[in-house]
Amino acid sequence: MLENKKILLIISGGIAAYKSLELIRGLRKNKAEVNCILTENASKIVTPLVVASLSEGKVHQEMFSLVNGSRIGHVQLSRGADLIVAAPATANLIAKMALGIADNLASTTLLAANKPVMIAPAMNTQMWKHHATQKNMKTLEEQGIICTGPKKGGLACGEVGEGRMSEPQDILDEIIKHLTNTESLKGKKALVTSGATQEPIDAVRFLSNYSSGKQGHAIAKALAEKGADVTLVSGVVSLPDPAGVKTVHVKTADEMMTACNQEKSVDIAVCAAAVADWKIVNPSKSKMKKTDDLTPPKLEMTPNIDILASICKQPDRPKLVIGFAAETDDVIKNAATKRKKKGCNWIVANDVSIDTKVFGGDNNKVHLITENKTESWAEMTKHDVAEKLATYIAEALTNEKKT
Ligand code: CTP
Repeated sequence: MLENKKILLIISGGIAAYKSLELIRGLRKNKAEVNCILTENASKIVTPLVVASLSEGKVHQEMFSLVNGSRIGHVQLSRGADLIVAAPATANLIAKMALGIADNLASTTLLAANKPVMIAPAMNTQMWKHHATQKNMKTLEEQGIICTGPKKGGLACGEVGEGRMSEPQDILDEIIKHLTNTESLKGKKALVTSGATQEPIDAVRFLSNYSSGKQGHAIAKALAEKGADVTLVSGVVSLPDPAGVKTVHVKTADEMMTACNQEKSVDIAVCAAAVADWKIVNPSKSKMKKTDDLTPPKLEMTPNIDILASICKQPDRPKLVIGFAAETDDVIKNAATKRKKKGCNWIVANDVSIDTKVFGGDNNKVHLITENKTESWAEMTKHDVAEKLATYIAEALTNEKKT
């Protein structure tokens, strides 16, 4: 199942390191090529010799050794891999990853990595639950690191609780799922808009909205993970650029439209951005000063271009155009009307009433509305919404039907 797939397995120094040997066997049985990095502490638990003989690959331990003759090891190692797996990932390794510390071959390779990274945390329950570890995990999640486990169960320290590394078979299943998932949108080009636009009023003020860009960015990442060539046109967000995605940063709706128009021969367009509906006519280049009588300025506004509707009207429009509908009332009915009005194939409707906490939150509860059906999805993380939508997109394009 994993023919031609190259895994770089990082074994850090937790007792669960002995289980990575089973993982190596599973990977080899599935015909993956496995190379390993063993930290100094891990080598006290499993020997380089046993790792080398089970993996039938190379075992790297030294920070300053060269790979393939003259290549710098910590850079070269990630370049040759399809997936980097850190199992076990100790609390220490997770902390270094979150902070960008590069003080040994494992942490330096992870910092220099340009490939997807999966971690299987393993540690004592208190270490796992500690605020510092949880904060680090959140940082890694935001960076798009894939995490499997930990599970509840008996721990090496004798305590019972959360912190046990996922079983080797479960990690293997995740690896297979991830690596065999990557082909379904290969050869397809996707354009995603995300985040809020900012429309200047003067040199220091702007019109905008609460959109965080979390959903749009997650969709760009999910499409890229399925092999699509993705361009993300991002409004103003405070999120890192998703790995493996070409990201273009814009501020205004006009800039977003221009950036979208640059993308040619697009197969899939997903407009998740919260585009400001209006812009200020002639924003002032300097700061507008208050008058002595404090009369507020009269702001003249004009509508912004509708990017989604404009993409739908292009003569060579993408095969599948998906809009979002942010609604507070009659969510499904208003979104269905919006889908028809804008001319997109599908629309993803979400209730953005203040109490739903959709803006800025990590979860979303959406309805997918197509020409023929409406599906109401259970509340899930924005990451999972993105995964599910990307799977639907891949299926629709494989079947070459515009649902
Ligand atoms: N959209 C867009 N350009 C705009 C406004 C909206 O591309 N100028 C896109 C959004 O990215 C989204 C869809 O249109 O995919 C619907 O956006 P939404 O804010 O829900 O609706 P509006 O079109 O702004 O309509 P209204 O404010 O009346 O609900």
